[in-house]
Amino acid sequence: MTDDRDLALALLRWQVEMGADEAIGDVSVNRLAAPPPPPAALPEAPRQPSAPARGAAQASQALPLEAVQESVSTARRIAQGCTSLDELREALSSFDLCPLRATATNLVFADGNPDAGLMLIGEAPGADEDRQGLPFVGASGKLLDRMLAAIGRDRTTAYITNTIFWRPPGNRTPTQLESALCMPFLERHIELVRPKVLLLVGKQAAGVVLETADAITRLRGKWKTYTKSGLDVPVMPTYHPAYLLRHAPAKREAWRDFLDVKNRLASMSGV
Ligand code: URA
Repeated sequence: MTDDRDLALALLRWQVEMGADEAIGDVSVNRLAAPPPPPAALPEAPRQPSAPARGAAQASQALPLEAVQESVSTARRIAQGCTSLDELREALSSFDLCPLRATATNLVFADGNPDAGLMLIGEAPGADEDRQGLPFVGASGKLLDRMLAAIGRDRTTAYITNTIFWRPPGNRTPTQLESALCMPFLERHIELVRPKVLLLVGKQAAGVVLETADAITRLRGKWKTYTKSGLDVPVMPTYHPAYLLRHAPAKREAWRDFLDVKNRLASMSGV
């Protein structure tokens, strides 16, 4: 029931993002039905809309709710069927229901050590990540590596992934539909890694994993718990390194969050 409601809301948000932000009728129209014959008094051929108008109309046509639900259910079934990270990567590489796969060069699955205890989740791959097929290898990745180094970690002692596994064209924010289609794989990813601590960098990762629309400025620095799939994982949301590259003063807070993560991990045995 909640799933249906979430999907309906995701579809509605997607329609708004696509520009369909106005209801023009109370009754839905079946655009796949055969058009009525032209009235006898108006025998001329119907005029074609202009190309830009056609494009705008196509862009605003939403996928039927059932199609979205079916795609997300398929994603969930495939993800749940994976019993190892290799299987999950393999399943994602042949998953063709997320439209981002068609425009991306490479799948960007993960980097680092899944047994490290620390799992870091970012937003989505950028151009460098898309080229190399690895997360956080561009400018923000360099900063992230320095922040990890500051708490004595690197990619052999941290595991890094994203909420989205293919680059959104032009680095735009992932749509609700794209997030909904990647989410089952992200959840299974977390379930298979079973991290001791989750570090969420940026609003998108915090929003998707913690299911909140709160601003990252409110969320950062405060421990939360990830409880899906019977897990009980401490979660620290913090700023995205790309934001820190533009707002250097915020590095002080992010540094504090990383130190908190370091201390939390140190207080647990075996990590
Ligand atoms: N930003 C992200 O959120 N993830 C990456 O992999 C790279 C940049």
